[in-house]
Amino acid sequence: MWTRTRVTEVLDIEYPIIQGPFGGGYSTSALAAAVSNAGGLGSFGAVNFTPEAIQRTVRDIAERTSRPFAMNLWVPIVGQDDAVVPDEALARALGRLRPYFQQLGVPEPRRAGDPVPRFEDQVEALLEARPPVFSFVMGVPDVAILRAARARNIKTLGTATTVEEAVALEEAGVDVITASGSDAGGHRGSFLRPVEASLVGTMSLVPQLASAVSTPLLAAGGISDGRGIAAALALGAEGVQIGTAFLASNEAGAPEVHKKLLGTPEARTTRLTRVFSGRLARGIENGFMLTMGQHLDDVLPYPAQNALTQPLRRAAAAAGRADLLALWAGQSAALARRMPAADVFRTLVEETDAVLHEPRLRSRAVALASPSGCND
Ligand SMILES: Cc1cc2nc3c(=O)[nH]c(=O)nc-3n(C[C@H](O)[C@H](O)[C@H](O)COP(=O)(O)O)c2cc1C
Repeated sequence: MWTRTRVTEVLDIEYPIIQGPFGGGYSTSALAAAVSNAGGLGSFGAVNFTPEAIQRTVRDIAERTSRPFAMNLWVPIVGQDDAVVPDEALARALGRLRPYFQQLGVPEPRRAGDPVPRFEDQVEALLEARPPVFSFVMGVPDVAILRAARARNIKTLGTATTVEEAVALEEAGVDVITASGSDAGGHRGSFLRPVEASLVGTMSLVPQLASAVSTPLLAAGGISDGRGIAAALALGAEGVQIGTAFLASNEAGAPEVHKKLLGTPEARTTRLTRVFSGRLARGIENGFMLTMGQHLDDVLPYPAQNALTQPLRRAAAAAGRADLLALWAGQSAALARRMPAADVFRTLVEETDAVLHEPRLRSRAVALASPSGCND
């Protein structure tokens, strides 16, 4: 049975389907709990959360589900995340963004954002709150952190974009590794080599990781229906982590204008870009991405660029301006369906059953499982 794997065993879930965490306000407790209640693993991205907000959120999700769920953090990349931005660079970046601030009537920030919460403080709060699973991206946490998680019976889930990163995560003793292919929506999690040298598609990445490590693997990136899940299992994954298909669900925290684009032909064109946050991430192509992409010298590194564009992105969301928003999405975004998260989940399970039991019916099975009124 495809539903019983080492991933379901280790994470104590019914189906090997994980809802990928979303940082930046796209996660909600309702979404994480809906997926966990459906028998998968719901996740919550808390990258910019204060320690107090992390504890509050863990309590909130635990009140909505008695099943396992994951809290997710970004491991800081030393030498990148802590780089000081010179005044001239800040002035140039602000100058480049000025027309957008003026268009949206947003006051220009005077500096590159408030200090972000310290990872060590976030982890301490997370460990104290004891979510059933601690997932992370952008690196390998300190051995002492992983040991402390284990001592509290918190399972750990790390993210690899290359074979070397998977080996590093395995050597550190994480319980499950997500193989994040470059098809995936949102930020690339590469941490050992430059991200440009770490762009491996899901179809190529998963079998190479399956050959290199013995830790159970999740496949992530471009998986939006039962065909993708069945393929990931065939490649050697023991589960999947799905982001964009859940980002389109009713409970997700994405702005309405963003959700409306998922599942449409416009969502077929995605690009990797640094212009929103300073770090490479995949989203649906739009005007801001294309225009700012011509001025990469005026884009600050993460997290400074992220802080500078945050008020713009907020105002763009409120004004329904898809041309100015970060429309994070993976390469299968056009297959996403707008439904309650529990229905997305049930549909994924039914489609996978159909594909695995009768491969010749796979296209028909997926068509049958699509709701009437889906926006494709
Ligand atoms: C809006 C958005 C935000 C994301 N934020 C995070 C994050 O904070 N931490 C993380 O580990 N993964 C993050 N991801 C990656 C997802 O959890 C998941 O691995 C990825 O979306 C899978 O690819 P797919 O979108 O093609 O399904 C994000 C993805 C999106 C679309």
